[in-house]
Order: sequence, then C-alpha cells, then structure tokens
Amino acid sequence: MKIDICNVSKRFSRSDGSDNIVLDNISFSADSGDFVVILGESGGGKTTLLNMLAGIEMPTSGEIFVDEIKIDGMDPSRSMLFQQPVLIPWLNVKDNVAYGCKLRGDTDNLDYRVYQFIEMMGLLGFENAKPSSLSLGMAQRVCLARALVGHAEMLLLDEPFASLDTFTQAHIQEELVNIWLSERFTAVFVTHDINEAILLGNKIILLGGYPGSVKGTYNIEDEYPRNINASSFKGYRADILANLKEAHVGSRKFFQ
Ligand SMILES: Nc1ncnc2c1ncn2[C@@H]1O[C@H](COP(=O)(O)OP(=O)(O)OP(=O)(O)O)[C@@H](O)[C@H]1O
Ligand SMILES: [Mg+2]
Repeated sequence: MKIDICNVSKRFSRSDGSDNIVLDNISFSADSGDFVVILGESGGGKTTLLNMLAGIEMPTSGEIFVDEIKIDGMDPSRSMLFQQPVLIPWLNVKDNVAYGCKLRGDTDNLDYRVYQFIEMMGLLGFENAKPSSLSLGMAQRVCLARALVGHAEMLLLDEPFASLDTFTQAHIQEELVNIWLSERFTAVFVTHDINEAILLGNKIILLGGYPGSVKGTYNIEDEYPRNINASSFKGYRADILANLKEAHVGSRKFFQ
C-alpha cells in the first residue's frame, strides 16, 4: 500500500489550555512494499504519527493518503502493533493470536497459521497460557504473531522489540525481515534505536526537534540480512548521527 503524508501537523491541548504542537508540517511518501522506519527520540511524536496512519488519531492539518485514498478512520488492511502489548486477558495465547482473523471470518487454515506464527515467535508450549502468566517480551511476541497472522497489507509497528532481550530481539528482527521479504507488505516501524533502523528499513525517516519535523530521509539499499559491522552500515550510521547533531534535536544526547 502506497503512503503519502502531506503537510501533516498535530497539536494537542495541555491541561492548562495551552497548545502542544507535536508534529510540524510532516511530508513523506513510501511505495507499496517499502519497509519504512521512523526514527526519533522519545516524546518526538512517533506514536502520534503512527496513530494517524492507523486512523486512530486525525491530523490537525494536512492529509494522509493510503493508495491515494484519504485516511478517515481505522481499517483492517492496516494492522497495528502497539508500544504496550494489548491482549485479551481471558483468552489464551492461541485464541489471542486468532482473534482478529476470527472476527473478520478469515478462518482458512487458521489453526495451522496460528501455530506457524506461535512457533516463529518462540512461544511453542505456551499456546494455552493466559496473558497474565507471560513476561512482557512474551506478550509482545504474541501481539506480533497476532499482527502477522492476518497477512495485513500494511503493518504499523510501534517500538515492538523494545522489551525483548538482545538475543530474542535479534531473532525476531530477522524473522520479521524474512516475512516481509516473502510477503512484501508495507511496514512502518517506529524506533529510537539507530542500529535497529538500519538493520530493518529500506527507507528511514528521521524525525527530530520540538515540534517534530522530518530531518532526513535515507534509502538503505544494502542486502538483507544486514551486518552492523559492514562499512556501509557504519556510513549510514555516521550520516544519520551527523544530521542529528546538526539539527540539535532535543536536549538529550541519546545516540552516542
Ligand atoms: N492523546 C494525547 N493527548 C495529549 N498529548 C499527547 C497525546 N498523545 C501524545 N501526546 C503528546 O505528544 C507528544 C509526543 O508523544 P508521542 O507518544 O507521539 O511520542 P513518541 O515519539 O512516541 O515517544 P516515545 O518514544 O517515548 O514512545 C508528547 O509531548 C505527548 O505528551
Ligand atoms: Mg511512542
């Protein structure tokens, strides 16, 4: 699904009535099948932008188009993986994974598909476990399985791997890239981790400043799987860091 974000700004009201301008005049496009990473610091408006792509929030000004159609609400063709795992507490793991598909009547081979993604996420043996008995990282992997099992045309992922340990994170990142390479859905992935951005994305949108605006767009053309020690990887990293320094984003030096 093609994405066009056109001059989007977003303003919230603070409790004292003053304006909190979070995003200022954001414009970028992505082609169908792109893996777009939105990279930026905490509080910079990444979740807000993703929520607008999901149709959960509306821009204060500007427009967002998906396949040339203006977004005016949520749609099952766009599957969202939230920053905090959201599971239905009374359903076990496999029923949580299957839930959205069952609601939509997408039940062909559903048991097989559910097990396939449960296995991929390293959750075999926990099919019948309830969410309350899972760790945060396990719960987030259940959510990822649920997001993938429906084969949505667009996947919106909000820092989904932040709560995973390094080893699980590397494994799941690799699995996500493999699924994307074979299915070529459009992915929009939010992170504040520069290495993760370069490992995953074929397009990186760098958000920075307060209010947040686009500070740079990078097309990463290296083959997958990517090597963090490759000179091209280090080159992209250096370019992004230089851009961040120049833009003086925020008051914290978080990429060191
Ligand atoms: N529903 C809301 N009402 C009021 N203000 C909001 C709302 N959602 C977000 N904000 C404000 O928008 C700003 C950006 O928040 P957002 O969650 O988009 O940042 P983020 O880049 O996702 O941060 P993080 O990396 O910590 O998740 C913050 O100042 C936040 O207080
Ligand atoms: Mg966020």
